Amino acid sequence: MPRMPELIVALDFPTAAEALRCVQAMPENLSFYKVGLELFTAEGPSFCRVLVDKGHRLFLDLKLHDIPNTVARAVRSAARLGVSFLTVHASGGREMLRAAAEAAAEAGGQGPKLLAVTVLTSLDAEALETIGIARSLSEQVVRLAELALESGVHGLVASVAEAAALRAEFGPDPILVTPGIRPAGSEAGDQKRTATPVDAIRAGADYLVVGRPITAAPDPGLAATSLYTEIRRALALPAQPL
Ligand code: C5P
Repeated sequence: MPRMPELIVALDFPTAAEALRCVQAMPENLSFYKVGLELFTAEGPSFCRVLVDKGHRLFLDLKLHDIPNTVARAVRSAARLGVSFLTVHASGGREMLRAAAEAAAEAGGQGPKLLAVTVLTSLDAEALETIGIARSLSEQVVRLAELALESGVHGLVASVAEAAALRAEFGPDPILVTPGIRPAGSEAGDQKRTATPVDAIRAGADYLVVGRPITAAPDPGLAATSLYTEIRRALALPAQPL
């Protein structure tokens, strides 16, 4: 029986005010939020502190990719902010990944869990070739995932299409986070490969990142609750308020 995954709401907003309005509309127990490049560039660490001070967990999706020393220092800054999840690019290489993992470990159990991004889902086989990668997309994803996990990274961000293969290859331990989630019968937006929450769970996801199906809904709180109910029903779990 698959486990009940956790929902992470992607706060893809240009201002803190809009993001906080969305947070306030969420059911009380939904309290894991992703801050990405748009909001972080606009509102920075002070917005992150507001979320953490309210008792929420924070997934800082900065997709770090730089020399090892710089990335390690950024990981330490994220740890001081109280970030729970932080993304790094696996293609930054072994030394960068190890430096990031060591910096996260300095904070002990409270430190951020590092998640590796392998191949951006916006890249296809042709785009990979233009940056000099001859391997197939799926081989490259597994290669980079292996490098990241060997280097001490705690988990992976992957599309649902990749998730089952990664779970099969690396077993139950790595944290698996899947974006591109759409409730059955909803708009895909600009996501090319979407999947329903149930597809993601069957593929082995531990956390589902959901943005627009919640944030752009006429009633975001209701959209979040419906998604949660859809998942519990699909897993044949008894109804439980969010
Ligand atoms: O609005 P939507 O549900 O498509 O948002 C998905 C979120 O997950 C966005 O913040 C996007 O940047 C992020 N993401 C993604 N695909 C990836 C990695 C991250 O959609 N491969």
